[in-house]
Amino acid sequence: MDSHANLYATVDLGAIAHNVGVLRDRSGADVIAVVKADGYAHGAAPVARATLAAGAIALGLAQIREARELRASGIDGHLIAWLHTDQADFAGAVTDDIDIAVSSPRQLAAVVAAARSVGRTATVSVKVDTGLARSGISADEWAQCVDDLAAASSEGAVRLSGAMCHLAFGDVPDHPLNSLQAQRLDDAVADLKRSGMAPDLVHIANSPAALTRPDLARDAVRPGLSVYGYSPVPDLGDFGLIPAMTLESRISLIKRIPAGQGVSYNHTWAAAEDTYLGVVPAGYADGVPRALSGRLGVHVNGRLFPNVGRICMDQLVIDLGPDGGGVAEGDRAILFGPQSAAAGVPVPTAKDWADGVGTIDYEIISRVGSRAVRRYVNDPAGE
Ligand SMILES: Cc1ncc(COP(=O)(O)O)c(C=O)c1O
Repeated sequence: MDSHANLYATVDLGAIAHNVGVLRDRSGADVIAVVKADGYAHGAAPVARATLAAGAIALGLAQIREARELRASGIDGHLIAWLHTDQADFAGAVTDDIDIAVSSPRQLAAVVAAARSVGRTATVSVKVDTGLARSGISADEWAQCVDDLAAASSEGAVRLSGAMCHLAFGDVPDHPLNSLQAQRLDDAVADLKRSGMAPDLVHIANSPAALTRPDLARDAVRPGLSVYGYSPVPDLGDFGLIPAMTLESRISLIKRIPAGQGVSYNHTWAAAEDTYLGVVPAGYADGVPRALSGRLGVHVNGRLFPNVGRICMDQLVIDLGPDGGGVAEGDRAILFGPQSAAAGVPVPTAKDWADGVGTIDYEIISRVGSRAVRRYVNDPAGE
């Protein structure tokens, strides 16, 4: 582990294991942990290991490339990948025994061709568009897919593993489309069964549905965000989830400036009185939204010090006040994290940042840049 970095994303794997348990208890179903986008930027492989150790039965990824990287890092569990172009490495996926969720008869045909060329049976799932109108097999291509799947199964080119769909209104628990989408997936599964193919693993629910609509769980739920400790429906509570990531740094420099001195690019803020500044080496290249300039606080020694002036690519400046706030160079500076991470005033959360720029915490956490060294604590696997 790099102990010389400017910036760390400390990831509590014990929190992730705990969150898997919360999701299983709330939904009453097995958990497929979604670890796409490098585990929502927490680090796919360590998160994958922690979730599997906590009982997750499979891992969800968008891209075959992501799934193959996990395989290469030694994860031998059930990997499902669901987003492909015509250039996708289906042959590599078959070789690595990745469950390929297909969204069209064309994708299925490409998988079948790949299975023949590799000389192995491909494991496939059907991703059914039950109302999201994004990826997934559309209603008018469904019958074709079932026929093609039946033919490919009897040839031994594919084995049907699962059936899945994704909700359009998971975060609006009572929205009528949720039940309708589930009904449509159930109907699709019935079609498959009538054609002699029974999927082992049927799954619908993302985080909000896993937490609030246990009736929508089928064989498993498929949460992402909540695995990392965030409630996708904060108005309904935190469900006992624990945010896993703390984005933290150290004060790299302290300096005194006179009243009237402007700070950072274009001097958008100037000191009203003589004051001390602290430089925090984290910027928008690391995922700190520039749009939060002048509107975020950094937690140092139990106090929140305001960012002043523009947030830059690599650094931001905080006002330590006329007495320097008792802060020294090298002191820990927490940008966001779980609220209980440090004593004193609450630590800002990813949700606070998201609210500040009018986005969702999904975007804040998944944009934490690669320069933030990932460091893992409380590994339930004991590594
Ligand atoms: C197909 C699919 N399933 C599950 C998830 C996980 O969703 P969430 O992070 O809301 O739990 C995603 C994420 O966008 C997804 O695309």
